[in-house]
Amino acid sequence: MSTELTSKLKQRGRASVDFLSNFGFGAAKVRDTVEQELHRVVPDPAALPDDLDQRSARIEQSMLGFRPYRVQQAVGEWHATYHGLVAREAFEEIRDEIEPILKKYDDGPSTLEDNSKEGAPGYYEGVNFHRTAGGWEDHEYQGFIHADLVHSRLVKNFFPGGIWKQREMVAGMAPKDHYDKILDMGCSTGHFTRALQTVYPDAEIHGVDLSIRTLEQARRLANASGWTWHLYQRPAEDTGFEDETFDLAASYILLHEIPAETIKQTFKEAFRVLKPGGDMIMSDVTRYADMDKLGVWKADFGARLGGEPYWRESASLDLAEVAREAGFVDVTAEGLPPNSYPYIVKGRKPE
Ligand SMILES: C[S@@+](CC[C@H](N)C(=O)[O-])C[C@H]1O[C@@H](n2cnc3c(N)ncnc32)[C@H](O)[C@@H]1O
Repeated sequence: MSTELTSKLKQRGRASVDFLSNFGFGAAKVRDTVEQELHRVVPDPAALPDDLDQRSARIEQSMLGFRPYRVQQAVGEWHATYHGLVAREAFEEIRDEIEPILKKYDDGPSTLEDNSKEGAPGYYEGVNFHRTAGGWEDHEYQGFIHADLVHSRLVKNFFPGGIWKQREMVAGMAPKDHYDKILDMGCSTGHFTRALQTVYPDAEIHGVDLSIRTLEQARRLANASGWTWHLYQRPAEDTGFEDETFDLAASYILLHEIPAETIKQTFKEAFRVLKPGGDMIMSDVTRYADMDKLGVWKADFGARLGGEPYWRESASLDLAEVAREAGFVDVTAEGLPPNSYPYIVKGRKPE
């Protein structure tokens, strides 16, 4: 569906989205220069303050006089502010043409439970995650705009090796070759759900997310491929499923989007809804514990710029400990080389 629809982009919209996407590569030289200066002003990262706010103030103050750093900041700010708007404009140029196709895929074998009337948790409501203009719900086709224009066309360029392959690799890291019933927690527009479907083609697939717009896009994706997904607008930490319903509970980059307490509840919820002997696999951003102090500042700075309010508390958690506290056994946790990304936590519910 993605290629079918994005191939309809008009010259102006395509150029704007692709310009934003490729600009990062053009700015690589500035990035290298800033990197060298950072290592000059921070010769010994271990000597930086332990407190991250103090560390950030120290580094950012030292760098402020360095012009390429200010340029990099300005570009990052511009990118963060405008990427959603540019994608939305590109969509509006082709809306009349593609709306009938999007509507066509609203129908099909997949189902979606809409709980919009119930409202969202306080940590989620009204937050413009990723600085997306209007958050996830503001535009009726925000799911398509985010999945097919921002993610598939823009963000994909920042992940060498391909974000789709990475999701399939993670899905394939679950311990068993076969699962009857799988829950994707924070399934969003269905990128990881698709990976689960691909790796476990015979499984019954269920997905929960708080965002109805992204779930609508997941439904289109599944319907376009003839897949039967069961999608629900429900929080991952309180899914409402009966105890012992699933054989595998999985998530891909959900955890850094939620506060630490909600992460803990989500692991407990995964434990609750898994059958005895069921598996859990959660994957997310690199742990701060796996970086030096300068690396942590860089990640934290990027998260602040990119509109990620819970990244810091999430990346600071010991997820293996969280999994054990939730009751999981045989817990493993590892960041994949070369950058410890994604960080993957696995565990099993005892028989
Ligand atoms: C980065 S996206 C996840 C992407 C998706 N798993 C993938 O592979 O592309 C994060 C998603 O988590 C959802 N989310 C945030 N808090 C949530 C919660 N408490 N329960 C369920 N979904 C949540 C957001 O609405 C968003 O769609």
